[in-house]
Amino acid sequence: RSSLRPAAMGAVACAVRSISSTKATAARVAVVGASGGIGQPLSMLLKLDPSIKELNLYDIVHTPGVAADLSHIPFPAKVTGYKGADSIHAALEGCDVIVVPAGVPRKPGMTRDDLFNINAGIVKTIAEASAKVAPKACYLIISNPVNSTVPIFAEVLKKAGTYNPKKLFGVTTLDVIRANTFVAENQGTDVLKTNVTVVGGHAGTTILPLLSQVKGASFTPDALAALTHRIQFGGDEVVKAKDGAGSATLSMAYAGYLFTAKLLQALKGEKDVVACAFVENTLTAAPFFAAPVTLGKEGVEKVHALGSLSAMEQEALDKALPDLLAQAKKGVEFVQNAK
Ligand code: NAD
Ligand code: LMR
Repeated sequence: RSSLRPAAMGAVACAVRSISSTKATAARVAVVGASGGIGQPLSMLLKLDPSIKELNLYDIVHTPGVAADLSHIPFPAKVTGYKGADSIHAALEGCDVIVVPAGVPRKPGMTRDDLFNINAGIVKTIAEASAKVAPKACYLIISNPVNSTVPIFAEVLKKAGTYNPKKLFGVTTLDVIRANTFVAENQGTDVLKTNVTVVGGHAGTTILPLLSQVKGASFTPDALAALTHRIQFGGDEVVKAKDGAGSATLSMAYAGYLFTAKLLQALKGEKDVVACAFVENTLTAAPFFAAPVTLGKEGVEKVHALGSLSAMEQEALDKALPDLLAQAKKGVEFVQNAK
């Protein structure tokens, strides 16, 4: 499996800059919700990726300023800001990859599903525009509740006749990076070499870290329970600490960039690029289920089997399935019942 880590991070950025002039740049990427808490740092990380030639920033507010600001950073991507509904087609047209962190975040006491009423409509509008002007793009959905917004996006594309299951991804990378951080802390191992597989969905107990598969690790029963819970509810930890000012933004921007960078590498032809993502598959009864996926030139190349699960993991998976099914159904019905 690829242990690719994006080259634009930290001190490596200087090295990247020195090779960026010789490396062919190609990809056209749009960020939808680019002025938000996630959108701004994510756009900055994308600006630092030398494989991107065009970076289109779309939002209903502030994008001219964000784009002007980022455009002064000396990397090849040409950054353009698009503000307001009238400009969404221009922003998305011709893009290879569209990353979607648009919508409202949680406040303490809310579940991700409590965001459905506002974010479902936002995501539906973005999917409609995508189907119209960028039907062949890869779509990376960050907006919550992911367990429903991804099925919404799929349903809109199906209605438009443009759905390609290989190109629609719910971004669950934040669950993976949290798991890597917490497991490395617990085991006293090198966090840069820790790779935890996290499957299922992206909400509470639908997040299923497969700690039994972490090579070389050994957990006490208490640590296993505590780590599993912390990975599942890491989002709540941040929401609580931010105390009404939103949810995870900086770690999510990193996670969103990490997944986008892997996908861009795979689209360019790099082999053995593997990442966990919430994609359509038949691994379980749920229509969408996060699993390790090999990415290729056309998006999803292969969805990997889950491998052997401990009794505790199997029980957690069985319990999560009804929620995943119900949350996907809610998304599909939202589109089907829309006028
Ligand atoms: P934010 O409020 O800071 O930013 C959201 C942005 O979306 C704003 O700039 C807003 O103007 C924009 N927006 C609203 N309606 C829009 C529309 N119709 N078209 C385009 N842009 C629109 O919120 P945030 O903290 O950046 O979070 C964004 C979303 O990401 C939330 O739904 C949050 O729950 C979700 N999230 C997901 C994960 C994950 O792991 N998948 C992690 C963190 C947050
Ligand atoms: C997260 O996991 O941090 C995000 O889904 C945001 C949230 O609402 O917790």
